[in-house]
Amino acid sequence: MYTQALNAGAAERETPFVEDAGAAARFQARIDAEERIEPNDWMPAAYRKTLTRQISQHAHSEIVGMLPEGNWITRAPSLRRKAALLAKVQDECGHGLYLYAAAETLGTSREEMVDALLEGRAKYSSIFNYPTLTWADIGAIGWLVDGAAIMNQIPLCRCSYGPYARAMIRVCKEESFHQRQGYEIMLTLCRGTPEQKAMAQDALNRWWWPCLMMFGPPDSQSQHSDQSTKWKIKRFSNDELRQKFVDATVPQGHYLGLTFPDPDLRFNEETGHWEFGEIDWDEFRQVLAGNGPCNRERLAARRKAHEDGAWVRDAAAAYAEKRRARTEMKVAA
Ligand SMILES: [Fe+2]
Ligand SMILES: [Fe+2]
Repeated sequence: MYTQALNAGAAERETPFVEDAGAAARFQARIDAEERIEPNDWMPAAYRKTLTRQISQHAHSEIVGMLPEGNWITRAPSLRRKAALLAKVQDECGHGLYLYAAAETLGTSREEMVDALLEGRAKYSSIFNYPTLTWADIGAIGWLVDGAAIMNQIPLCRCSYGPYARAMIRVCKEESFHQRQGYEIMLTLCRGTPEQKAMAQDALNRWWWPCLMMFGPPDSQSQHSDQSTKWKIKRFSNDELRQKFVDATVPQGHYLGLTFPDPDLRFNEETGHWEFGEIDWDEFRQVLAGNGPCNRERLAARRKAHEDGAWVRDAAAAYAEKRRARTEMKVAA
């Protein structure tokens, strides 16, 4: 019901302008002038659809992303590590909530977005379909996965859609803490026993390539990039962001005394960039298609959490109904 009402609202906001050819031009002029688009402003249906897809996928990624790390909260090696990891995983939940709220301003309800995730119709970041096998994986995730997320998200702070851009500013501040806690875990392991250092190396070996895939397909095959760039949703291409990430991360790995699992990795003095080898895009497609190492497990965990939380939603709805009825009675009196 609620969903339908919201969607009808979105449709009504668009219809009066559909015939107006100038509306799209005026909209683009606002974007070109770096103005922010706000929820009640006119926007092309495709802009609304693109952003709804992107922001909801981003929200799902934050929520599913809690699973591989949540798995290690009870096994963190010290109270300090446990407290930091717990805070980090809670932050990710918060990111999911800001993002669902930002996506709702475009006219799709949170219930509808969550249903799409649970029914396997919505995507989330491919990276969270890989398993966390050792404690070093928690270091590698913070350092590399959150590091890649920062690269992606900093430009989104200037996204043309106001609610998304504003959510990203807060998210990025927290991501930077996540990245540091991960790097510090790696640094401690690398300065520890040979076994600990080997664990850190193994984690880097397993996470490096999936992290490079996080930036999405190469520009030559990217479906949505051109229009998203024109609308200033996207400020850098997938390949540009991937290169920035490699350039920033390789020296950090060398400082740890680790090697990267890429025989083609070399610094190009002329361009000032780190060149890297071929990414296995077939693996990426397989993971996106639901055949990664943990896809089924992740969705099963989310479905169970949703079912287990049904009583909380029912109780909240019953309480809201009771309050509404009480207010109505007062107004009537
Ligand atoms: Fe996050
Ligand atoms: Fe994070």
